[in-house]
Amino acid sequence: MTRTLSDSPGWQYLLREFDMLYRYGSAGGSRAIRSHRKRVRDRLAAITDRNPVLEMREPLTKPVVEHLHRALDLGEVNDLNGMCRALRRVQAGLTWEYGYERVPKALEKKYAYCEVMGPRGPVMAEGLILGFVLFAPKTTYPQHSHSDIEESYVSVSGAWSENETAVFAPGSMILNRSGQEHRITTGEYDPCLLAYAWIGPEERLSAPGMRFSATRRAGRSKTPGP
Ligand SMILES: [Fe+2]
Repeated sequence: MTRTLSDSPGWQYLLREFDMLYRYGSAGGSRAIRSHRKRVRDRLAAITDRNPVLEMREPLTKPVVEHLHRALDLGEVNDLNGMCRALRRVQAGLTWEYGYERVPKALEKKYAYCEVMGPRGPVMAEGLILGFVLFAPKTTYPQHSHSDIEESYVSVSGAWSENETAVFAPGSMILNRSGQEHRITTGEYDPCLLAYAWIGPEERLSAPGMRFSATRRAGRSKTPGP
């Protein structure tokens, strides 16, 4: 029997948290961020209105997932506690992955991401990917960009810095437009859990190219992972 979103309250509530994240947070006066937030909300609403199919993938873990409990414990005492609780409820069904054919050795134990909605499921959708990225403390996620994809990160737990220009605390949002280079670092003691959204053409979201660019300079890549 086909399982749909309406049969799966845990996943419904998690998507509800994403909707609230993109509905009630501040755009900080930025027109570009306001319009990105609205695009994410509108696509999410259009997808959930169709009661999408839920196709569970094989649950997979990665070494960094050992840090997830700590990230959620810390997140549950801040404003994003609803998201943390909703994520705990579906945690057993998450597929954590690297997104690269070859993962830099330094990242193997420090990074992984999981998708919640998108062309590969578990909530089947086109034109929008929602998911989470988890970083261990003291991580540098190398400089990269995404062509044709508009990406936003929201910190659910922990602090991070992007391009060494500021420190972003839980609740902060960063918008990375198509082609915009970004590099992430995390703090010394706590893990960092980011919720993310990708908007782009269907063909880019279904096949983002799962490897580093062959012509990359050291530390630079066009990544398939967030
Ligand atoms: Fe990214």
